[in-house]
Amino acid sequence: MIKSFAQMQNESNFREQNCKYFNFKDDNGSLIRKRSGFVTFSDQPSLSTIIAERERERERSRRVRKMEVGFLGLGIMGKAMSMNLLKNGFKVTVWNRTLSKCDELVEHGASVCETPAEVIKKCKYTIAMLSDPSAALSVVFDKDGVLEQICEGKGYIDMSTVDAETSVKINEAITGKGGRFVEGPVSGSKKPAEDGQLIILAAGDKALFEESIPAFDVLGKKSFFLGQVGNGAKMKLIVNMIMGSMMNAFSEGLVLADKSGLSSNTLLDILVR
Ligand SMILES: NC(=O)c1ccc[n+]([C@@H]2O[C@H](COP(=O)([O-])OP(=O)(O)OC[C@H]3O[C@@H](n4cnc5c(N)ncnc54)[C@H](OP(=O)(O)O)[C@@H]3O)[C@@H](O)[C@H]2O)c1
Repeated sequence: MIKSFAQMQNESNFREQNCKYFNFKDDNGSLIRKRSGFVTFSDQPSLSTIIAERERERERSRRVRKMEVGFLGLGIMGKAMSMNLLKNGFKVTVWNRTLSKCDELVEHGASVCETPAEVIKKCKYTIAMLSDPSAALSVVFDKDGVLEQICEGKGYIDMSTVDAETSVKINEAITGKGGRFVEGPVSGSKKPAEDGQLIILAAGDKALFEESIPAFDVLGKKSFFLGQVGNGAKMKLIVNMIMGSMMNAFSEGLVLADKSGLSSNTLLDILVR
């Protein structure tokens, strides 16, 4: 069906380009105009889409500037992640067990607290990125820990890789004091963390997840919400299992190629294509 000019102008991907001829028909099918110039449909966004996108970006920046985020744990991942938040306009308050590791973040504009409890007291949202379940539990339950200051209106987002039971235990403690909890383990390593390209496997309080999206968008390229607490931890461990199995098969393949008199470099060349 030939569309009228008016119909086409209403399409968001309508574009005119400098080519030869185009016949326009009105809604009854009668030829109403012939002109040089030719109409195409392109992937370029329309002006109204661009304006709407800019307005969304301005709104996102306004929300980010207001958002004060606490960050507990400045290891390989935590340092890169908190640095990304700072570079993207968040106000960040950091804590690390070895306090000297906060210095570099402070040079980039972060504030520092001496205990996890102080960070929670100061910030509405606090992210943790700690080595393992025992570290995650210690930071919440020990003296000067998260539980001492968590209360209604505060959100705690633990992005450490832990087992589902640990996550459930932390969730119960946080929500028991009126706080909200999201687990958000990540898929990706140091480089994706530096580049803000992690994949976030979140679960728990849906409203807190949604409020955290401006931060998640800076930390990662995609955030999944997986339902109840424990699902993020389980998904992360399944992803790790698959990645580990692939790594195992890959290593076996390299050795097998070598023992079969084949070049492992050629095998790599084949695999990357
Ligand atoms: N590295 C990766 O490629 C990668 C990828 C995906 C997910 N992850 C996960 O991300 C999390 C962080 O990994 P990472 O590589 O950043 O580890 P990391 O470099 O070893 O850093 C661990 C952090 O946990 C802190 N910590 C350890 N035990 C503690 C305790 N008992 N109390 C308080 N703080 C404690 C450390 O503090 P100190 O500085 O004082 O030691 C440090 O800040 C882990 O759950 C890991 O499985 C890592």
